[in-house]
Amino acid sequence: MSDKPVLHVNVDHIATIRQARGTNEPDPVYAALQAEQAGAEGITVHLREDRRHIQDRDLRLMREMILTRLNLEMASTGEMLEIAKKVKPDMVTLVPEKRREITTEGGLDLSANFEDLKKTIGPLKERGIRVSLFIDPDQKQIEQALKLEADDIELHTGEYANQKDPKLVKAQLKRLKIAAKFGHELKLKINAGHGLTYVNIGPVLGLPHLRELNIGHSIIARSVYTGIYQAVREMRALIREGV
Ligand code: PXP
Repeated sequence: MSDKPVLHVNVDHIATIRQARGTNEPDPVYAALQAEQAGAEGITVHLREDRRHIQDRDLRLMREMILTRLNLEMASTGEMLEIAKKVKPDMVTLVPEKRREITTEGGLDLSANFEDLKKTIGPLKERGIRVSLFIDPDQKQIEQALKLEADDIELHTGEYANQKDPKLVKAQLKRLKIAAKFGHELKLKINAGHGLTYVNIGPVLGLPHLRELNIGHSIIARSVYTGIYQAVREMRALIREGV
C-alpha cells in the first residue's frame, strides 16, 4: 500500500455552474464518474442547507453510481441526519455552516457544539457510517474529537492556504504537523483539506500520518481548461509522485 494520502475530489462547483442557470448541465454526477476514472479514490459533496450547489438528486445518484467512496459533508442538523441515514454515504464529514459564507470559513467548535454533535454522530456510527470532524489544527479540538468518538479528523488547511508571508506559511505548517501527530497518537485518522491547490499542496504532503485529502475548487477550476479527467490526473500525479 502506498504511504501517500488518497485523493477525494469535491465536485460541488460543477453543480455551482449548473445552478447559475438552473438547467441540467454540467452534471456533477458525470463529473464524479470522470474523476473516478482519472484515479480519484473518493468523491466528496457538501449538501448545504440552502442547496446552493449540490442537490438531493445529485447525492442519491452518486450513491447509486460511484464505485469508490462517497464522503458527504454536512452540517449537524436534524434534516441532514435524516438524509444521511437514508442515503448511507461511506463517510460523513461534519462541518460548520453559515448561510452567508462563500465557503466553509473554519473548523467546528467541538466544545461549544458538543451535545448537538453527539446526537448526530451516534446514529451515523450505529449505521456503520464513518464520521469525520472538520476542525482547526488545535489540540483542544482534537481532544474533543476523541471524546465525541469520531473516527477521523479533517484538519482545516484554509489558514495555511491563505498565508502569503513565508514565515506565516511555515508557522501554519508547523501547527498542522503538530496537530496531525497529536491526532494520530490519539488513534484518530488524519485527513486534510480546504484551499489546497496545485501550487500549495507540496508541503502539505509532508504532514505525518495523512490519509485523505479533500480537494475541490482548484481541481474544478483547472478542469474548465483541461477537462476534469486531466485535472484529476495532474493532482493525483502531484500527490503520488510530486510532479
Ligand atoms: N474540506 C471541507 C470540509 C470543505 O468544506 C471543503 C469545501 O467544500 C473542502 C475540503 C474543499 O475545499 P476546496 O474547494 O477549497 O478545495
